Amino acid sequence: MTSPRHYLQFKDFSAEEYAYLFRRARWIKDKFKRYETYHPLFDRTLVMIFEKASTRTRLSFEAGMQQLGGSAIYLNTRDSQLGRGEPIEDSAQVISRMSDAVMIRTFEQGIVERFAANSRVPVINGLTDDLHPCQALADIFTFIEHRGPIQGKTVAWVGDANNMCNTWLQAAEVLDFRVHVSAPSGYGIRSEKIGLAGTDHYQLFDDPKDACRGAHLVTTDVWTSMGFEAENEARRQAFAGWCVDTDMMAVAAPDAVFMHCLPAHRGEEVTSEVIDGPQSLVWDEAENRLHAQKALMEFLVLGRVDERNGFVLPDVTCC
Ligand code: CP
Ligand code: NVA
Repeated sequence: MTSPRHYLQFKDFSAEEYAYLFRRARWIKDKFKRYETYHPLFDRTLVMIFEKASTRTRLSFEAGMQQLGGSAIYLNTRDSQLGRGEPIEDSAQVISRMSDAVMIRTFEQGIVERFAANSRVPVINGLTDDLHPCQALADIFTFIEHRGPIQGKTVAWVGDANNMCNTWLQAAEVLDFRVHVSAPSGYGIRSEKIGLAGTDHYQLFDDPKDACRGAHLVTTDVWTSMGFEAENEARRQAFAGWCVDTDMMAVAAPDAVFMHCLPAHRGEEVTSEVIDGPQSLVWDEAENRLHAQKALMEFLVLGRVDERNGFVLPDVTCC
C-alpha cells in the first residue's frame, strides 16, 4: 500500500501544487455558484475529529464534503474513546479503515503527525496549537482573487505569533512573499515550532505600525488562542498596543486589504472600523474556507483531476 499524502502543515505542498489548488478552488467555486452538481467524492467519507471548538472549520468541511457528493462524520473527545485514553495510533488504524480522509483539530502538532503516521488515508490539520494550514490556504486564495499573485507582496502580522502567524511564515517561504511580524515581548516567533529554512522571508518590528508600513495585506488574530485561556488577563495587558486600527491601515499600501481568520474580538486585536470597513475581506475569507478545502479534499482523495473534467487550465503559473 502506498502512503497517502497528508496536509499537516503549509509546507507539505509545493508552490506548483498550490497554483493547481487555487485554480481548482476557483473552478469548484464557480461551478457551485452556478448551482451545478459536482460529485467527485460520491460515496466517500470524511471523519472530522474535534478536540477544540469550531464554527467555520466544521461547517466548511461538512458542507464541502456533502457538496462533493460524500458525507462527513463528526467525532469529539467527549463522546468517543479518544477522550478515554485510546492511543492515537490505534485510533488512526481504526478510523482510517472506515473512511477516505480524516480532518483533526487538536492541541499538539505531534498528535496530527502521529495520527498520519498510522493512517491509511489522507489526514488534514484542521488547526493545532502550532499551525492552521487550511486557513492560510483560504486566505491566500482570497488575496489572489482580489489582488492577484501574492508572490513578492508583503503581509503584516500584528499580534500573537500563534498558529496563524506560524502558518503565514511557512507560506511566505513556499510562495515567496514577505511577512512583517510585530508581537509584544514574550509572544514573538518561536522558530522551532515552524521549521523555516531561513529568515529571508520575514522581518520583526517592535512597533506594529512600522510592520504595517507598505504592506499589501494586514492581518491579525485573537490575543488568546484556544487552549491558552488561563493567560487571558496577562495577555490583555501585554497586547493592549496591538490592535489593528485605521492609523495602521493608513500606512499600509493604498490598496491594502485586511484579513482575520475569525472569530474576532472587536476592540481587542482589531477595531470595528477596520474589520467592518471597506478594506476588510473577512467574509470572503471565511466563505473561501469552503471552496479551498473542497479543492484540497479532491486533491488528497483523488489526485489531480483536470483532464478528467475536460477543464482547460488558465494561463496562471504562479501564486
Ligand atoms: N477560522 C477558524 O478556523 O474558525 P473556527 O474556529 O470557527 O473553525
Ligand atoms: N489562533 C486561534 C485561531 C482560531 C481559528 C486559535 O487557535 O484559537
